[in-house]
Amino acid sequence: MSDDKYSARGNKDASLGKNPTQAVGGTIETQRTKHAPTKGTPDEPYLIGDAMSGGYGQGPDILHDCTIAVNEGEIAVIVGPNGAGKSTAMKAVFGMLDVRRGAVRLGGEDITALTPQARVAKGMAFVPQTSNIFTSMTVEENLEMGAFLRRDDIQKTIEQVYELFPILREKRNQAAGELSGGQRQQVAVGRALMTQPKVLMLDEPTAGVSPIVMDELFDRIIEVARTGISILMVEQNARQALEIADKGYVLVQGRNRFTDTGQALLNDPEVRKSFLGG
Ligand SMILES: Nc1ncnc2c1ncn2[C@@H]1O[C@H](COP(=O)(O)OP(=O)(O)OP(=O)(O)O)[C@@H](O)[C@H]1O
Ligand SMILES: [Mg+2]
Repeated sequence: MSDDKYSARGNKDASLGKNPTQAVGGTIETQRTKHAPTKGTPDEPYLIGDAMSGGYGQGPDILHDCTIAVNEGEIAVIVGPNGAGKSTAMKAVFGMLDVRRGAVRLGGEDITALTPQARVAKGMAFVPQTSNIFTSMTVEENLEMGAFLRRDDIQKTIEQVYELFPILREKRNQAAGELSGGQRQQVAVGRALMTQPKVLMLDEPTAGVSPIVMDELFDRIIEVARTGISILMVEQNARQALEIADKGYVLVQGRNRFTDTGQALLNDPEVRKSFLGG
């Protein structure tokens, strides 16, 4: 390990996640009504984008029967070539894309018609691939912005984020735009954790960071999963990400190409040859 500040913090029992019964302020209305609600089976994963098809605006389908899911407290990883539709699948699960066929369910409830904000209120958090922090605001202001839906005391959660990412405490009064790439990603993840999500969705959290910083970020993500939060993430560093994945999805041209445990995908000769560089 390169550095003390990233050493294990032993906060595996700290509850960054939301108490399911906790009230969330604000009235949220649904956007679309034409979708007929589906019902999940009792043993289906906690969050599932089930056979999703859809695209942008009036454009053609980008996703074709694409299924992505994650169990409670597990890590699911989406990999695949550039343009495969990984980010699109994440947007579909988070409600930023019109799902023309298929459904998204959370805890057995059909949420396909809900707005992203309504999904946040249900315990979902999303860190997009780009523009995921407010660069002119301080680190702490970014965390406060992340808690905009909450009406209760957020100090304890800020403290938990600082325990997870100690460097952010040091830099809390600094503009987030002045931070390094890896530190910015910590701000983005920390901001998402401020809503005390049950599911944390990350689109390429290690983009543009060094291998050491990538390892550190993955360690922190494992730590978050151990608190019971489900992690659904897209990763360009496919091999390393699959190593920490309970479940892996290889997407190609908007379709599921391979789906298995992270370990099984790493051991699959065809996956290795085509997607992991041999
Ligand atoms: N806002 C948009 N409007 C129209 N088409 C889009 C939009 N965003 C992405 N696309 C198209 O959807 C397809 C899938 O893109 P997407 O960003 O989901 O891929 P990706 O797998 O995340 O790629 P990368 O690894 O480069 O991040 C591409 O053909 C892309 O051109
Ligand atoms: Mg992408």
